[in-house]
Amino acid sequence: MSSLNEEEESLPQEPPSRNEMSRRQFLTYTLGGATAFMGAGVILPMVRFAVDPILQKKGEGEFIKVAEASKITEEPQEFTFELPQQDGWYASTAMLTAWIRKDANGDIYALSPICKHLGCTVGWNNNKAHPDEYHCPCHGARYTKQGRQLAVAAKPLDQYTTKIDGGWVYLGEIVPNTVSAKEA
Ligand code: FES
Repeated sequence: MSSLNEEEESLPQEPPSRNEMSRRQFLTYTLGGATAFMGAGVILPMVRFAVDPILQKKGEGEFIKVAEASKITEEPQEFTFELPQQDGWYASTAMLTAWIRKDANGDIYALSPICKHLGCTVGWNNNKAHPDEYHCPCHGARYTKQGRQLAVAAKPLDQYTTKIDGGWVYLGEIVPNTVSAKEA
């Protein structure tokens, strides 16, 4: 006894006309579209996760609240503050130090303590032979109150960008020294 399917297969089949879509084409397009849609739903979130830290802003121009402006004196004072950092997917906090003072006009500026010779940390007034200077204990570099180099180092101490807002001193990125050029 022949089955219904065999009878159907034995019937002459007309090829689809040019403008008609065969059942096979229809299934191919439908399955292909559905697969692409589902694949995009899985892959796009992964791509976003992978590149998200790269697309995020690096925090340039951000300022950190560091000290009350009323507490700043003409004598340099050391302040430490936390800087949140994002390195790819790794979030951390760096402890930074700044030497902050105001000049005779009352303008506040902040120097980086990183020695411009080989990167040790300078201190203020820490060498009795050379009072009222920054001194680096590693190889003896010395700097003026404005950070101008006096010995060993080839460049002045860098400074932080500074902003005064609401009675507070905010510090931003570290930039080349400009205050030492105004030194009297
Ligand atoms: S690192 Fe400061 S003097 Fe060498």
